[in-house]
Amino acid sequence: MSADKTAKLSLNGKSYDLPMMSPVMGPDVVDIRKLYDEADVFTYDPGFTSTASCKSAITYIDGDKGELLYRGYPIEQLAAESTHLEVCYLLLYGELPTKDQMDDFKTRITRHTMVHEQMHYFFRGFRRDSHPMATMVGVVGAMSAFYHDSLDITDPWQREVAAMRMIAKLPTIAAMAYKYSVGQPFVYPKNSLSYAGNFLHMCFAVPTEDYVVNPVLEKAMDRIMMLHADHEQNASTSTVRLAGSSGANPFACIAAGIACLWGPAHGGANQACLEMLREIGTVDRIPEYIAKAKDKNSGFRLMGFGHRVYKNFDPRATVMKESADEVLDLLGIHKNPTLQVAKELERIALSDEYFISKKLYPNVDFYSGIILDAMGFSTSMFTPIFAISRTVGWISQWKEMIGENGKIGRPRQLYVGPKKRDYVDLRHR
Ligand code: ACO
Repeated sequence: MSADKTAKLSLNGKSYDLPMMSPVMGPDVVDIRKLYDEADVFTYDPGFTSTASCKSAITYIDGDKGELLYRGYPIEQLAAESTHLEVCYLLLYGELPTKDQMDDFKTRITRHTMVHEQMHYFFRGFRRDSHPMATMVGVVGAMSAFYHDSLDITDPWQREVAAMRMIAKLPTIAAMAYKYSVGQPFVYPKNSLSYAGNFLHMCFAVPTEDYVVNPVLEKAMDRIMMLHADHEQNASTSTVRLAGSSGANPFACIAAGIACLWGPAHGGANQACLEMLREIGTVDRIPEYIAKAKDKNSGFRLMGFGHRVYKNFDPRATVMKESADEVLDLLGIHKNPTLQVAKELERIALSDEYFISKKLYPNVDFYSGIILDAMGFSTSMFTPIFAISRTVGWISQWKEMIGENGKIGRPRQLYVGPKKRDYVDLRHR
């Protein structure tokens, strides 16, 4: 990274030199850290569309090219050759593991897959019809009440143990939230299975029957996890970093990330998308919904379309579409009405001038929702699966932030409220 350019700002007759920073890839960055001290002005950027909030060496996105790299490796290559657990290693430690490193990592993760037995009682405190995301926010936050030996963020070993615990236990917690919501007994993790296979087992096995993980579904689940593993400074990751910048413990930070992910503009979009497809119901009603999406006053958006950063096809969506085809072939459910609606909606949106001109392509959630539905997951489990997958990204970004010893995150504002005024006694109001 070089810093040999400057930007000039001219303000009230004075000129300010602002240093520029050049990243390894991507647009240059104007360093405005001293702007307030020197020029007594703030910058205004709600939604952070033009603001780099940190330096990071983890994930790179080129939204115009539709490119996503984890530690420099293209997502398409990882999806074809790697596994989610190997990607976890890559994101956490920066390099692909050797065989010994991978074996050791797998052992460390599988040793942590069970949750504290007392946590079972904690689950039982929730209503049966709680959304699994609500349960997850609570239970992951509560991990800080169970694992006191990994709360000291100044100790690298404790940070490492917290990371292993969360990557290992999030699938168990999500599966337990699901089992609880459908009134079935919890299924303990099985360490002989892969990370994705174990998750499917914990969700779909019952004590009365043998459950054999289908390799096509296992591969599709592994891909869903890998494709969602990190996505640079998105809303939930920024939430984790902001929470972590105050020195909050890692479990609390990840719980904050889960809460943010839940929103329909972010991780909740996969659930919202499938619910929208079901609401549309039949292909003949699609034009009505397309018209609604184009009408500014309707407040309606086509869920599963558009992305803040990708103004080209989301590369994850391309891979996910392949997986969707594999899963649907295996299960032989091409005639499902929701799928018919999805396929037709995709076709229309890709050829409609409104969507083309605004560069609104189907995003990863559009296809992951279809796969998860076909696998038999209830829509309420879609976002928890995203949360499991993103956990490694959140933790990698959190660890990077702690390592940098950064400042507490504290944005400023453009105040538009009343000017200073005197208190008026109740009798005179
Ligand atoms: N349907 C219809 N119109 C849309 C949609 C959509 N899904 N998305 C954006 N637009 C339109 C907007 O109305 C706006 O039009 P205008 O220029 O005439 O005002 C224009 O496209 C740009 O939209 P913005 O909201 O400014 O784009 P932004 O980058 O802020 O939003 C977002 C991105 C939130 C993802 C948006 O596209 C959206 O709401 N999509 C649906 C929800 C969704 O699928 N989210 C998943 C994101 S991916 C993820 O989290 C893994």
